[in-house]
Parts: sequence; C-alpha cells; structure tokens
Amino acid sequence: MGKQYVDGIADIILERLNIIDVVNSYLPLKKTGRNYKALCPFHSEKTPSFVVSEEKQIFHCFGCGASGSAISFVMKMENLDFIDAIEQIGDRYSLNLDEYLVKKYDIKSHEEQEKIFNINKLAAKGFYNVLKNNSKASEYLINRKISEDTRRKFGLGFAPDQWDYIYKNLRMKYSELLLEKSGLIIKRENSEGYYDRFRNRIIFPIFDIRGRVIGFGGRVMDDTLPKYLNSPDTPVFNKSYHLYGMNFAKNHLGDRKQIVIVEGYMDVISLFDKGIKNVAASLGTSLTDGHGKLIERYAKEVVLLYDSDQAGIKATRRAVDILSRFSLKVKVLSLMDGLDPDEYVIKFGKDKLQEMIDNSQDAIEYMLDYYKEGLKFTIKSDLIEYIDRIRPIFSTISNSIEYELYIKKIAHETGLSSENLIKELKHSKFNKKETDKKDEIVLKLKDVKLYRRLFEIFIHERKYFLELIQKFDFDELKYKLLKEVSEFLLAHEKFEISDAIDVLSLEEIEMLKETEDNIEYVPVKNGLKEVEKIYYELLLSDKLRYLQKIKEESQKVLSNINNESPIYDKTKMKYAELQHEINTQIADINKKRG
Ligand code: CTP
Ligand code: MN
Repeated sequence: MGKQYVDGIADIILERLNIIDVVNSYLPLKKTGRNYKALCPFHSEKTPSFVVSEEKQIFHCFGCGASGSAISFVMKMENLDFIDAIEQIGDRYSLNLDEYLVKKYDIKSHEEQEKIFNINKLAAKGFYNVLKNNSKASEYLINRKISEDTRRKFGLGFAPDQWDYIYKNLRMKYSELLLEKSGLIIKRENSEGYYDRFRNRIIFPIFDIRGRVIGFGGRVMDDTLPKYLNSPDTPVFNKSYHLYGMNFAKNHLGDRKQIVIVEGYMDVISLFDKGIKNVAASLGTSLTDGHGKLIERYAKEVVLLYDSDQAGIKATRRAVDILSRFSLKVKVLSLMDGLDPDEYVIKFGKDKLQEMIDNSQDAIEYMLDYYKEGLKFTIKSDLIEYIDRIRPIFSTISNSIEYELYIKKIAHETGLSSENLIKELKHSKFNKKETDKKDEIVLKLKDVKLYRRLFEIFIHERKYFLELIQKFDFDELKYKLLKEVSEFLLAHEKFEISDAIDVLSLEEIEMLKETEDNIEYVPVKNGLKEVEKIYYELLLSDKLRYLQKIKEESQKVLSNINNESPIYDKTKMKYAELQHEINTQIADINKKRG
C-alpha cells in the first residue's frame, strides 16, 4: 500500500520488454513489412488498422487513435492503473521490480506477502473444489439464486466441517507461522497446535484489484452466529483499502465511469449475477479514505446503495462525508421496505433496480434533506441550527451552477433570501474547493492532426506563430494546449523538445515530438490565411465541444431538480442563455472562417 517506484520506472520496464511479445500475448499479430498488424482490440473493425512498431516500441490504431507503449497497452487491455499494470507486467515477465521501490520498501516483507498470496490461492482452490462436491452447499447457493457462472467467476467455495482442512493440506508447504499470518489458521489458546478459522461455511475469496486472493469471508448456511467470519488484517489484506468485487467492477463502469457501492458479499454477487456488474462492497465496514482513493482511481461517479436499515442510513451519511472529499460525483439510493440490494433485485428484477440506480438522488440533496429532520424552520433557533449543519456541505460544492441551485432550493424552503443565505453560509470557513479539476478533454483525431500541423508550422516558420499570437487570444480556447505551447515557444527561441519537459504535459510533448520527428515538412503555401484557417477550425471544434459539454451538464443538473419547482425553470433558462451565447460565437467564427 502506498507503494512508490523510482522515477523513470516505465522506461526501465520498457527497456526489458518487447512490445511485440506483450501485445501478442493478447492478440495475434501479423508481420507486414517492418511493422505488425492486428484488428484493434479497442474498437470494432473488420480490417486491421492497429499497428505495432517493434522499432519504436509503440502501438497505434489508425482507426480509433489509441496509442502508446507496452505499459499503456496493458493498462488499457486490463483496465488497470499505472502501478497495478507495471506490477502485473513485472509478475508476468519475471522482472524484479522490488529493487526500484522507493522509501526502503521492506523486501523481506514483500517476499512474505508473495508467500501469503500463494497460500491464499491454494486455499481458494481447495475450497472451490470442496464446494463442487458438496451438495448441501451447492443447494444453498442455488436457493440464493446464484448461477453456476457467477459462482465460478467469484470463485465461491466451501470450507468443510473440519478443524484442520487447511492446516493438514498446507502445513507441508508452509510454516505454521506463515499460515497463521495468512489468517487461515488460529493458534489454540490453552493447548498446543492450530485450528482452521473457516469451518462449515460458504467461502467468498476476496480479490484485490489485480485479481489476487487477499483474504476470505465465510458465511454460515443457517442462522448460527456470527453470520460471517472474515480474514483478519494480514500482510496482504487491509479492509480499509479493498473493496470486494472491485476487480470485476472496474471493467464494467461504462461511459459514466459509475460504480455502485453496496454493503455485503451477497449484494455484489447477486447484482453481478443479474447483470448489474459495476458493483463493489465495503464489506460491512465503514468507508474510509483508502476506499475513496481506490474508487477515485477508477470511477467518476459513485452510487451508495446501502441497506435501508438504521445502520445503513448511518453508513450512507458517513460515506457521503468521506467521498465528498474526492473528485467524485456522489449519489445515494435508498431502497424501501428494509430490503437489501440482493433481496430487491430478486424481488423486483434487474431492470427495476437499474432504473432506481439511474435515478438515484444527488448526495448533496440527500444530506440537505437529512439535516432537516427534527427541525422547524418557523423556529428561529432551528433555522440557525440548520444553516450550521449544512454549511460544511456547501463548502464541498465546487460547481458554481450547482452551488446556486442549492442556494435557491434552501432559500425556497427556509424563506430566507438567497443573498442572506449566501452570506450566512460564507460566514465561517467557507472556501470553495480549488481542486476544480482540469476537465479531461478528448480530442478528435482531426483536431489532433490540426494541432500537429499548426505546431509544425510554428516550429519551421516561426513568423506565422508570431503573427498568429498577435492577432488572436488563445485564451478563447477551452482546451489550453495552444496557450501552453505558445507560451513555451515564446520563451524558447530555438525549439528543443527536452526543454519542454517541465512545462508541458506528456500528451503535449508527445504531440510536439511527433512534429519534431517529422522531417518532411510541407511549407505554408497561402501565407497567414492558411494558418488562420487552421486556427479557426480548432476554435470551432473547441466551441462545439464546449457546447456539447454544457448540454450534457444541463441535462445532468436538471435531472436532479423536481421540474415543478421554481428553480427548475430558472436553471433551464440559465443554460439556454449560455447555449445561445456559445451558438452566437460559433456563428461568428463560421463567418470569419468563410
Ligand atoms: N458482516 C460481517 N460480519 C457479520 C455480519 C456482516 O463481516 N457478522 C459484513 C459482511 O461483509 C456482509 C456485510 O457485512 O456481507 C453486510 O452484512 P449483512 O447485510 O448482514 O449480510 P449480507 O451481505 O446481506 O448477507 P446475506 O444476504 O447472506 O444475509
Ligand atoms: Mn442480504
């Protein structure tokens, strides 16, 4: 946890790998001339436009524009982030990455971890095989409506009703101490020897994000208590970092990058089984910063779907508090009748639950409502109490439109004026989140080409750069590439890509680098007009992209407001005005560009 590798670890790894081997292990490559070709795994196509260059050690798809190194290929294929991807590559190609860990990461403990992973794997396999031959356990899962496929996918098993199943099977290979550290066996208190932790229970192996078994949960098949037993924290398992099912869920987050967080093993498995696959569980423990970080690495939106009992409500509030510190859109869904997600999906079906998830409530709204409980706004002290309660919530809202929206909602409900409310809320430590994260903008291939051409001209015929920068204000583009590159070019009379490393993003550098590498520069034929035309094209698509974004945002915001509320129309109008303004700008650019 919190592992860190030396700078340049990517290069170190890439030097020891051949991208051809890596890609070939996923899809068959055909040699054509100097390069290799295949059907692109990242979009569907009939003729191969996915090219791998052995010489450059990169892949590039001329269809969808995906490109990168062997590492980014694995990241994309396996849906892993950088650290997890390099570790997986390290395992697969036996590269010993330990020596590149910073902060004197304890190698000995790392070796121990590897052994515990192996113990867990063997135990999981054993439990799995036992389940296959145990009709009572199989029946239990059938009764709980879990299909064969799902059972296999989650590696469900059964721990026999026996004190030494694990002990007997593993002590030949591993020391008692190590087995004890794995949490699978427990030392007897008043006599010699050890006994198995999990007996006569359905076994749920817990996987980390890379699919390694890090621990287990075990459920009784009747009403005996405790219902569940779990592995304790071990050198490879820490409940506050891992989410059950996240290894599968990360591959099903969809375009919205949405994850549904539930409480229990059975909720994850049951929802997955019925087709809601973007689901993971915090295993009955309250959500921590560690979970928040993990979620933030993979998702943009979280739907908290906890049990609708008192404990679940409490857990939801805590989770909202924790998650609002991350750059995540947080939503809340409470099911009625005290059903948990597993019971709900079985009773009402997948489509109904999916619809509920799609319409889940904004966490802010949920919290604002929650804090109203027990207060009467006609009583002055209650009103003051309410403002105090909601102040911290407002300090987490970073989107100004959203902010205004909720101000109006509260103003409407309390009878305070928006102005007063804003003043009151700002009263103490109100500070807007500065981490208004840079919007990730994905350029179309056409735009990328235009940018490249423009930079090529800038570099080879600097006078056009100087003319263009005089005539236009690059700030009018939402995508800051041009602005940043031009600042760099202004500061550097002679272009050296190595100077750019501190100033520009990798993406920008890559774009410039290709420009620099291209030796067949085609000079500008039609003077400044030609260069301006490229600029207008870029400006236009920048505006269109912005317009699209505003449209999406307005839909999202509006979907969270009751359309009978007076705020609804006002908000709608506000968005309409904004869209009108952008449309006017677009018309203007179109005119200029001719
Ligand atoms: N839990 C636990 N120990 C218990 C009870 C619960 O660790 N004694 C954890 C488990 O991870 C469990 C989660 O809390 O999955 C939620 O508990 P609960 O809602 O009681 O269980 P379900 O997951 O709904 O399991 P089932 O449907 O089989 O009752
Ligand atoms: Mn349940």
